[in-house]
Amino acid sequence: MKKIHFDTIDSTNKYLKDNYEKFDSFTFVSADYQSEGKGRENRTWLANKNENLLFSVLIKDNQLINYYKSISLVSAVTIFNYLKTLGIKGLSIKWPNDVFVNDCKICGILLEGSIPNYLVVGIGLNVNQIEFDGKYRIEPTSIKKELNKTLELNDIRDILYNDLISDFNKLKNNDSSYLNIIRNNNYLLGKEKNVVLNGKEIKAKVVGINDNNDLLVEIDNKIVPIFSGEIN
Ligand code: BTN
Repeated sequence: MKKIHFDTIDSTNKYLKDNYEKFDSFTFVSADYQSEGKGRENRTWLANKNENLLFSVLIKDNQLINYYKSISLVSAVTIFNYLKTLGIKGLSIKWPNDVFVNDCKICGILLEGSIPNYLVVGIGLNVNQIEFDGKYRIEPTSIKKELNKTLELNDIRDILYNDLISDFNKLKNNDSSYLNIIRNNNYLLGKEKNVVLNGKEIKAKVVGINDNNDLLVEIDNKIVPIFSGEIN
């Protein structure tokens, strides 16, 4: 399993997408800074240099690619569990792939790729940054903002890499325990969310998550699944 680190790169996700043929499954690419960090829905991921974790993991293992609908939720649970061990309070997971502390975002996950060839899981975790000057849709927070402690980036990077690989491998053994963690820490539960149904945007109350990783909302007394696992 190869680990590649850049001082500066445009985007670790883009690097793996452009080079996936050359690398084996579980190749890990990280950077101190991304000049064109990508978020979901074509947003930008902003993170100060040397203060945060910015990394991507390549998945080419066919068996695991079959679980692509679970990969971003499992990744969110891995990060959630790690942050919990640090003693951060108010943690939750915002379906399908953000980790929150109260109403602030501490981690975002971007899944890209081409099924059945490969997947890239890109993770941005705010660690030691305390000033967030850019424009953010959701207020950001970081480990340092929550705990008032500076952490060693190399240490967390190694821990998270090992935790992610171990949690991905559990999926191959049909371990769905990550779903319980999401269900018990579901940021959206009970909230009204805008969903598109038959081409129309409506507000619907979130009531849970099914075994297929879909968000469940209530519309006209019916429970409707909202699909997850979309790949940009
Ligand atoms: C989101 O919440 O919108 C997803 C953010 C994902 C950011 C990470 S940082 C490492 C990897 N490389 C990128 O360009 N994006 C992801």
